[in-house]
Amino acid sequence: MALTEAAERIIRGRRATRAFLAEAVPEETLRAVFELAGAAPSNSNVQPWRVEVVSGAAKDRLADALVDDDGRGRRTVDFPYSEAIYGPEHHQRRAAFGQALYGALGIDRDAREMLAAYNTASLRFYGAPHVALLFAPDSGDPRLTADVGMYAQTLLLAMQAHGVDSCPQALLSFYADTVRETLGVSGGKLLLGVAFGYADPAARVNTVAVGREPLEETTRFHR
Ligand SMILES: Cc1cc2nc3c(=O)[nH]c(=O)nc-3n(C[C@H](O)[C@H](O)[C@H](O)COP(=O)(O)O)c2cc1C
Repeated sequence: MALTEAAERIIRGRRATRAFLAEAVPEETLRAVFELAGAAPSNSNVQPWRVEVVSGAAKDRLADALVDDDGRGRRTVDFPYSEAIYGPEHHQRRAAFGQALYGALGIDRDAREMLAAYNTASLRFYGAPHVALLFAPDSGDPRLTADVGMYAQTLLLAMQAHGVDSCPQALLSFYADTVRETLGVSGGKLLLGVAFGYADPAARVNTVAVGREPLEETTRFHR
């Protein structure tokens, strides 16, 4: 297969997966994926990411702790979040995404119980057998944090290339202390979680396909 075609298949073939089979990813694939992800570029090659990969009983303990703390309303965030970060065009795109996702889930936005059940499923990593937690340095510097973003996308593509499905979950970053305490992590700022494993082919939520803006909306070519 031509390299370009392979790149198209890996980049466009990756989708956020929100229902997983229980089947674990083989150990050698796990190591190959995270080894490949480490090839991500970073400012001055400082490689400022710290990654915790959680499976098996440890993953179940983490999911339980997240659900417990969510029930108690204990949210701890390293990177502050508010809807004010979005501009009008972002709000529009979020609304379209929400409609596609909740439509596929058959959830009416007012159906509180169904939304709560979906939130719990999210905190249990959508049934994935593994979750990776991506930490930025304590400084939370935006440039170093952007490097962790570079790592995150490299990781998602490495997974895709190895036939592993994934879902980046900013949601998990709202429980930073819960994650640190449960995993015995002392430093770093929690940017993102990535649930991963193999997609459940029977789950309707995995058919959600969201589009992208046309090139002209985001990119200008200067000569
Ligand atoms: C940094 C980041 C955080 C995300 N957080 C969540 C999340 O908390 N929950 C979720 O269901 N999807 C999350 N997503 C997935 C996005 O909704 C998804 O990437 C986007 O809608 C585009 O769809 P696609 O990945 O299927 O192409 C996140 C994606 C990124 C890049």
